[in-house]
Amino acid sequence: MAKKLHIKTYGCQMNVYDSERITEVLKPLGYGASDDPKGADMVILNTCHIREKAAEKVYSELGRLRIQKEAMAKKGQRMVLAVTGCVAQAEGEEVLRRAPYVDMVFGPQTYHRLPQMVAEATRATGQVLDTDFPEESKFDALPVDRQVEGSAAFLAIQEGCDKFCTYCVVPYTRGAEYSRPASDVLAEAKRLVAAGAQEITFLGQNVNSYHGEAADGSEWNLARLIREAADIDGLERIRFMTSYPAEVDDDLIAAHRDVDKLMPYLHLPVQAGSDRVLQAMNRNHSVDEYRALVDKLRTARPDIALSSDFIVGFPGENDTDFRDTLKLVEDITFIQAYSFKYSARPGTPAALMDFQVDEAVKAERLAELQALLNTQTLDFNKAMIGKTMAVLFDRSGKKPGQLVGRSPYMQAVVVDAPEDLMNTTIDVTIEQGGPNSLMGRIFDDNTKACA
Ligand code: 5AD
Ligand code: SF4
Repeated sequence: MAKKLHIKTYGCQMNVYDSERITEVLKPLGYGASDDPKGADMVILNTCHIREKAAEKVYSELGRLRIQKEAMAKKGQRMVLAVTGCVAQAEGEEVLRRAPYVDMVFGPQTYHRLPQMVAEATRATGQVLDTDFPEESKFDALPVDRQVEGSAAFLAIQEGCDKFCTYCVVPYTRGAEYSRPASDVLAEAKRLVAAGAQEITFLGQNVNSYHGEAADGSEWNLARLIREAADIDGLERIRFMTSYPAEVDDDLIAAHRDVDKLMPYLHLPVQAGSDRVLQAMNRNHSVDEYRALVDKLRTARPDIALSSDFIVGFPGENDTDFRDTLKLVEDITFIQAYSFKYSARPGTPAALMDFQVDEAVKAERLAELQALLNTQTLDFNKAMIGKTMAVLFDRSGKKPGQLVGRSPYMQAVVVDAPEDLMNTTIDVTIEQGGPNSLMGRIFDDNTKACA
């Protein structure tokens, strides 16, 4: 009988990708994935260290799992409890100390070694810790076959970060920048498409710094990779994230102009709208440079829409700086955004900076910024009403007879539609636009075409 594996994933899309790959590594060992932690033979927390709150959640979740593990032990059952992801990488020893009932702690670069780790953890009574940055790339050792749920898939093409923004733990938890060879990426993309993927999102902490070796020994940048991937039959949509503004080059802008399969939607974190703050963050670009970049992108691809990340209350941010962020948001218009209160992370330069901002001030600024960003999202969604757009359906709706899909702009679109349209791309006319989703009806011409 298959052993039950439950993985709880926190944080970014890279963790979602890693969790999928971890499932694939464990499959030959007899583990089958389950959404339910109850009675699981193995529970893995794939964790995020980016903000303090995210990291602390892990310990409370571990506390809950301990009770379950002990209850199972009383019945003579064994639950293997593991922690991976960026908390594991950053504070592996601390996890083992604070939660001695944890069996395995492994970093995001070592999960291809799970078969050995599981053998050790289930044989011995001691704990297993593997937070190396190994010489060998995990990608070479991972199972080749990929599984695809629905019709959209993630594909990690680049990992790590050399940018050292002064607030960020990623360069420490994910290590130096590494680009996978282009032929490996294309081969994986083809396998994903063969397994049902119609949309692929290339992932990387700094995805646009991608420079992978091609079969002929030359180096491909992200734009080249996108152009080549666009030739894969059956692949309908390409996306990529997350981009570092200072390294968006003309090739990438041209790809947005030329490649129809590349969706007109770009996540381009700006973090702040004040030069003083951007400099203190070590972001390597000014506000005007960001504005100019957006202009270039919009000239190349007029229908491109942007999303972003923001941090409020970075050390030294004063009210004028914050007003400048609001001004930038007003001028650019983002259709979607993630915004956070600055969280001091141990080991990062910003944690030691003077003029840390009061929590209450951070909360006020965040609320004001989010109110503005939410208005922009809603305005954009309402502006869709009456328009017809291609929607890739990939899940059932809450109500019977409904399907939910994604627009080119990643909006969730809910439509009354027959089940057999699942995993197809259909033109939908939008009838309602809310803060989180759109409602629409199948465009008439499609219906005729189906009849
Ligand atoms: N505090 C708050 N937000 C942070 N981010 C990264 N580090 C921190 C931090 N220390 C945010 C940035 C980044 C996103 C993934 O998380 O906005 O783009
Ligand atoms: Fe963190 Fe900056 Fe690297 Fe993004 S670019 S992962 S924010 S250090």
